[in-house]
Amino acid sequence: MWRASVLTIFPDMFPGPLGESLAGKALAAGTWLLDAVDIRDFATDKHRSVDDTPAGGGPGMVMKPDVLARAIDATATDARPRLLLSPRGAPLDQNWVEELAGGAGVVLVCGRFEGVDERVIAARDLEEVSIGDYVLSGGEIAAMVLIDACVRLLPGVMGAAESSAEESFSAGLLEYPHYTRPQLWEGRGIPEVLTSGDHGKIAAWRRAEAERLTRERRPDLWARRPGSQTRPARPK
Ligand code: ADE
Repeated sequence: MWRASVLTIFPDMFPGPLGESLAGKALAAGTWLLDAVDIRDFATDKHRSVDDTPAGGGPGMVMKPDVLARAIDATATDARPRLLLSPRGAPLDQNWVEELAGGAGVVLVCGRFEGVDERVIAARDLEEVSIGDYVLSGGEIAAMVLIDACVRLLPGVMGAAESSAEESFSAGLLEYPHYTRPQLWEGRGIPEVLTSGDHGKIAAWRRAEAERLTRERRPDLWARRPGSQTRPARPK
């Protein structure tokens, strides 16, 4: 069963939002497992210290390699990928999420303070992952984002209709606009094609809208969409 183990100094943050909605129902149903491991349980001094001052001086505190390594060794006893949530990591995208959701699960290490001692990252082969170019106060919320993105892809979590519709034609594109009743709201109507009953035309309209939105809002995604040429065609 897909399992997320989260190493953190704030285990009470979990399941948090992951205990609600789609992910929460699947968690309660036993479709996936979550364990929050308190890094502090692996400290050995009477103050249960997990951090210390940075070598070379400077502000903040650094997570100790020995304590974190013990927590990792006690938790990562299988072949799951070990990821460190960090703003300097490789950017998380849907392809990576699909890969992680397709495996046995993840071991997620949440950094705090100014960072984590570099030696434990190397010694325990932690792969650094970022959820975006901004800085959170710790890895916990980033870990929740990663888990949520994976869990919704697990078999049986999302309706089959939803997932197949998403994958069949909008891969690499932003979503087309949605509408529901009332037909007329604050003077605004619904695009006529959507009430035509012509499913071929509706699919074509949605595709065109998804492409237009992607081109306008995310030229970076548009350039990298599946099937697009990464370089201009060679002139004849
Ligand atoms: N920890 C702090 N900021 C982060 C980010 N942007 N992504 C992942 N982990 C983080």
